[in-house]
Amino acid sequence: MAMVVGGGDCAALYFYLLPLFVWITTLLTFCQGRQYDHPAQYRYSFIKPASSFSLPLSSAMPATYDYIIVGGGTAGCPLAATLSRNYTVLVLERGGTPFANANVSFMKNFHISLADISPKSASQMFISTDGVFNSRARVLGGGTSINAGFYSRASQSYIKRVGWDAKLVNESYIWIEKQIVHRPVLNRWQRAVRDGMLEAGISPFNGFTYDHLYGTKVGGTIFDRFGRRHTAADLLSSANPYNLHVFVHATVHKIEFDTTGKKPNAVGVIFKDENGKKHRAILSKRCGSEIIVSSSAIGSPQLLLLSGIGPKEELEKLNISVVLDNEFVGKGMSDNPMNSIFVPINGRPLKQSLIQTVGVTKLGVYIEASSGFGQSKDSIHCNHGIASAEIGQLSTIPPKQRTHEAIQRYKRRKRNLPHEAFNGGFILEKIAKPLSKGQISLLNTNINDNPSITFNYFSHPADLSRCVEGIRIVEKILKSKHFTNYTKLDDETMEKLLNMSVEANVNLIPKHTNDSKSLEQFCKDTVITIWHYHGGCHVGKVVSPDYKVLGVERLRVIDGSTFDYSPGTNPQATVLMLGRYMGVKILRGRLGKEAGV
Ligand SMILES: Cc1cc2nc3c(=O)[nH]c(=O)nc-3n(C[C@H](O)[C@H](O)[C@H](O)COP(=O)(O)OP(=O)(O)OC[C@H]3O[C@@H](n4cnc5c(N)ncnc54)[C@H](O)[C@@H]3O)c2cc1C
Ligand SMILES: *[C@@H]1O[C@H](CO)[C@@H](O)[C@H](O)[C@H]1NC(C)=O
Ligand SMILES: *[C@@H]1O[C@H](CO)[C@@H](O)[C@H](O)[C@H]1NC(C)=O
Ligand SMILES: *[C@@H]1O[C@H](CO)[C@@H](O)[C@H](O)[C@H]1NC(C)=O
Ligand SMILES: *[C@@H]1O[C@H](CO)[C@@H](O)[C@H](O)[C@H]1NC(C)=O
Ligand SMILES: *[C@@H]1O[C@H](CO)[C@@H](O)[C@H](O)[C@H]1NC(C)=O
Ligand SMILES: *[C@@H]1O[C@H](CO)[C@@H](O)[C@H](O)[C@H]1NC(C)=O
Ligand SMILES: *[C@@H]1O[C@H](CO)[C@@H](O)[C@H](O)[C@H]1NC(C)=O
Repeated sequence: MAMVVGGGDCAALYFYLLPLFVWITTLLTFCQGRQYDHPAQYRYSFIKPASSFSLPLSSAMPATYDYIIVGGGTAGCPLAATLSRNYTVLVLERGGTPFANANVSFMKNFHISLADISPKSASQMFISTDGVFNSRARVLGGGTSINAGFYSRASQSYIKRVGWDAKLVNESYIWIEKQIVHRPVLNRWQRAVRDGMLEAGISPFNGFTYDHLYGTKVGGTIFDRFGRRHTAADLLSSANPYNLHVFVHATVHKIEFDTTGKKPNAVGVIFKDENGKKHRAILSKRCGSEIIVSSSAIGSPQLLLLSGIGPKEELEKLNISVVLDNEFVGKGMSDNPMNSIFVPINGRPLKQSLIQTVGVTKLGVYIEASSGFGQSKDSIHCNHGIASAEIGQLSTIPPKQRTHEAIQRYKRRKRNLPHEAFNGGFILEKIAKPLSKGQISLLNTNINDNPSITFNYFSHPADLSRCVEGIRIVEKILKSKHFTNYTKLDDETMEKLLNMSVEANVNLIPKHTNDSKSLEQFCKDTVITIWHYHGGCHVGKVVSPDYKVLGVERLRVIDGSTFDYSPGTNPQATVLMLGRYMGVKILRGRLGKEAGV
């Protein structure tokens, strides 16, 4: 099959032939019943590499856009699809497309994708100053293209507190769910965890539901039953293709402002294409046109700072001309600490599962689980479900000591470890609302580099005591009759495993669970991330309740950077929902009943 050719007349020709090509391939794939198996990287005619930006556009497209969305991620894609119904929309995404990338498309490659640290990878690794390894999305679809797929809505009380329109929230969730969310098929491990949680008192059983309810439940997933990932990028199929341009490998370096008026007015953005060439995209002068930053909890504050919106002194240190002094940009960052216990399984290799079932406790901790398999000791295919040493989650090594050398040492030792070290699963606890806060600050003016990121895990004592409670709950689940009946671990095996747990870099049940002080140490030493970091552009501090950047005109931020708490047990459902929700809100605001949504 053809690929898009990136330059010159050839691309122009391609542009005209594309509708025909799409029609034929759609027909072919439909006849073969393989709609999701499209080999082309650019699935939709409106997606193109950034280098083709300066080519003459179709006459139907104006040279300026009603909306410029920076970041085609979890919030950006549903937002673009919705706004394009009635307005011209440009999406600039720094990563490539997820459509022909096996690392993205298959659940079995979850950890492989995270371990890929090349500049072309769909994930960009970062290490917070806390010493915890972490990842950011760098691909169309954003987090939904690299995440663990679990889908669960925010609680009713969260929605009320934020002040969202509950009816539109429900409609927006449903809009997402119909397109990309699936009901998981539970394997033995997930069933055992579910039953163990119920026995440990996390009740009632709420069955399969997207709703956030106390007790144990099975949630949704963006993986279908064949282990294929569906992402926010798939939501672009709901767009009006004549009103939308999506450029990939388009890294926005700066938002430009007209500062001659009363307030700074956003007018366009500067971005670089895959060849490093600079381009300028310009906002339409029509009343209501806006630049919307959806670059994630790290990318959005970083871009605001680089564009001159942030703490004055910090900007001046890097010679960034100040457009607006706002001390809160990049502040209030937090990441929900995750601690886990590995449970080895005697016997048959366990099927991989990411997160499917969750315990919502009244103690402010969520319990989830994943399982992995001991396929081959030498390869990266050997993992522990969602956590593996290769992605820096060396959980028996305290955060600051988790270096690249430590990973290499682990890889060498891994060959000598027994099979049991890899066959099993994690039961994890995540703190619902961490009170510990941190910040991001610029290290340089290069948007491709990570800023300095600090989360200050467990700096607030309440977070630490909640972690201790969580570990005790996990222990209860492990010791439940249902669970032990499933794992069938005798004392002798247990001892052998405990002995090797350090080398295997996995946690087993801590020895001193009745000692809070030692459990506190366990929490600090084994903390990893569940990648639910959020904040940096909080509502009321950086943006208004309708996500308009305070103090400037024609600029919004819509994504996970606006959250003070991560919604639901896992955030993606609500980030996706927010993209759709704000798209509809904006259309209704401009068109009233005429919007037809
Ligand atoms: C490994 C991992 C596992 C996770 N597991 C789950 C899970 O199972 N369930 C769940 O609910 N949540 C999960 N999450 C969290 C969830 O995926 C994120 O909270 C969510 O995707 C964030 O959405 P966002 O729109 O804020 O940012 P993103 O989805 O990250 O979107 C931001 C986009 O902006 C682009 N961008 C950034 N800067 C620029 C720039 N300067 N120019 C152009 N483009 C730019 C990025 O490339 C990216 O595509 C996980 C996250 C990760 C990383
Ligand atoms: C907006 O788009 C929708 C869907 O294409 C259409 O039904 C509606 O009439 C449009 N509204 C206006 C005011 O153009
Ligand atoms: C997938 O990841 C592996 C390493 O983790 C890397 O070698 C490979 O190039 C990646 N594939 C793609 C298509 O990006
Ligand atoms: C939204 O849906 C939830 C169930 O998913 C329901 O409890 C709630 O009442 C609904 N809210 C509105 C306003 O319809
Ligand atoms: C800022 O500008 C001054 C004066 O031009 C220069 O001396 C200094 O090195 C610059 N600092 C940075 C971080 O670029
Ligand atoms: C233990 O597991 C077996 C199947 O492996 C099942 O038949 C039995 O009911 C289980 N017992 C308990 C207490 O769960
Ligand atoms: C524990 O490991 C050490 C070496 O690391 C070994 O000498 C010892 O016999 C092991 N003990 C058990 C009970 O396996
Ligand atoms: C834990 O409790 C047991 C039994 O009550 C006791 O013997 C042991 O000393 C306690 N351990 C710690 C570390 O407090």
